[in-house]
Amino acid sequence: MGHSQKPLPHLILVFLIISTFAVQSGGEEGFISIIISEKGLDFVKDLLINEAVRSLTTLQLPVIERSIRIPLIGSVHVTLSNITISHIDVPSSTIKTGEEGVVMVASNATVNISMDWRYSYATWLIPIEVSDRGSATIWVDGMEVGVSVGMEIQEGTLKLSVKEFGCYLEDISINLEGGASWFYQGFVDAFEGQIRSSVETAITNKISEGTMKLDSFLQNLPKEVQVDDVSALNVTLVNDPLLGDSFIGFEVNGLFTAKDEATYFRSFHTNFQSSIFYDGPSEMLAISLDEAVFNSASTIYFKAGLMHRVVDKVPDQSYLNTARWRYIIPQLYKKYPNDDMKLNISLSSPPIMRITSHDIGATIYSDMTVDVVHGYETVSVACISIVATASGVLEVSGNNLAGQAELDDFSLKLKWSNVGDFHMTLIQSVMRALLKTVVMPFLNLHLKKGFPLPIIHGFTIQNAAIQYSYSKIMVYSNVEYTDSCHDHLKQPLALQA
Ligand SMILES: *[C@@H]1O[C@H](CO)[C@@H](O)[C@H](O)[C@H]1NC(C)=O
Ligand SMILES: *[C@@H]1O[C@H](CO)[C@@H](O)[C@H](O)[C@H]1NC(C)=O
Ligand SMILES: *[C@@H]1O[C@H](CO)[C@@H](O)[C@H](O)[C@H]1NC(C)=O
Ligand SMILES: *[C@@H]1O[C@H](CO)[C@@H](O)[C@H](O)[C@H]1NC(C)=O
Ligand SMILES: *[C@@H]1O[C@H](CO)[C@@H](O)[C@H](O)[C@H]1NC(C)=O
Repeated sequence: MGHSQKPLPHLILVFLIISTFAVQSGGEEGFISIIISEKGLDFVKDLLINEAVRSLTTLQLPVIERSIRIPLIGSVHVTLSNITISHIDVPSSTIKTGEEGVVMVASNATVNISMDWRYSYATWLIPIEVSDRGSATIWVDGMEVGVSVGMEIQEGTLKLSVKEFGCYLEDISINLEGGASWFYQGFVDAFEGQIRSSVETAITNKISEGTMKLDSFLQNLPKEVQVDDVSALNVTLVNDPLLGDSFIGFEVNGLFTAKDEATYFRSFHTNFQSSIFYDGPSEMLAISLDEAVFNSASTIYFKAGLMHRVVDKVPDQSYLNTARWRYIIPQLYKKYPNDDMKLNISLSSPPIMRITSHDIGATIYSDMTVDVVHGYETVSVACISIVATASGVLEVSGNNLAGQAELDDFSLKLKWSNVGDFHMTLIQSVMRALLKTVVMPFLNLHLKKGFPLPIIHGFTIQNAAIQYSYSKIMVYSNVEYTDSCHDHLKQPLALQA
């Protein structure tokens, strides 16, 4: 906890970028934006290359069979089988963003391949069949693989498509174990090209297969993250990705929706002011959350009737008996001597959330009805309206954004009373204590849980820092990939809650 105000290193003009989002796309507004920085893209690239290497290693290439003509010997039937990629090394790779998507290039890669060979022939000189068999190793050096992937948002999800693909093997060397020397030369002449194209085809197929898998993974990402049994966060992607020099930005709707009814808030208006220049982070991700996100949450919980509480226990219980009030509100005591009291506090409208340059604040409008338990009857005797302001700081815990608030100020007004008029100043200090010891802890219990940030399952936020600015919060963080399951791309996915 605490203000995270460490100065962040320079990289991109995050705020400027986020501001141009809604403007350039001219589509729907997204209230949460996610920018993947250069460092984040590198991280994704390494993850994808590891995945590709893993799926290519131990891959078996199809059997190659053909007859070759060898001088003096004649036609020799050769079969290459058990052609297996045993090792791939990718020493250098790059990822770049372009106009339509991203371009990933792996270069200087090497591939080790093992295989078994066998040949047989018969000539008029030696009419019986001669055959031999052995194994071979193949070493591919200087392999370059490049893929350009287009990205667009379709029906709220990210759609990938391979725009261009290239695979080039610079050098291929073959080492036969066993076999006659005539065979060796004939073999290299006849099969080098075929092995080369077989490797190229295998890699091309795997990469397009991998892209399709990744695409369906992205298509299947949920459009909503359940927050609790009341609300969900709408993480539907809106507008096309913003492709910058060395980053990609995504926008999600980002508003809270009621779990059971599709309430869609159109009324929140944001201040997409592009005048704030901000040098972005060296962290992998920058997630910006607009004030509207918090206001939508506030509205959902208000509508669900959760912002409502009857207080019948306070730290000093004597306050909830009319005897305690005999001098301050004499009529109360006269009408209901020594009766227990209950306070029914309910919010009269959704709290209004506001983000300032250093914290997040809320203005809370509530009515407190004072009830007296008189015999078997509960009688409402007065109603006080309370306008309180609270503020707090947020923190990231796991993949959740949580917070804690403190009471700043409040004002009281007597709405009605049937125990006579009484001055609000008389109950000021009791009310302060009540708000601080009963209402705020209750509120903080909910705020502590927070809500999930839109992070894909398997990734965990690391070292997050929060920056406040006018009407927006930025979360800068790195992520760690925690899903060790090899086949994670096949699993049904859920955003991590
Ligand atoms: C295929 O090659 C591997 C390694 O070179 C070897 O262990 C395996 O026995 C071979 N499989 C067959 C069916 O020959
Ligand atoms: C590829 O490797 C060679 C030598 O191993 C090196 O000189 C060259 O700079 C490398 N190229 C890239 C793009 O890494
Ligand atoms: C791959 O082949 C190269 C060249 O033959 C060799 O130096 C290297 O040790 C092999 N690597 C593996 C993992 O087999
Ligand atoms: C979620 O956001 C999308 C895109 O803005 C919108 O079309 C959809 O109606 C929203 N869903 C709900 C339940 O509000
Ligand atoms: C508390 O007050 C609200 C509104 O003033 C009312 O609807 C509700 O019934 C009251 N609850 C109790 C338990 O008195």
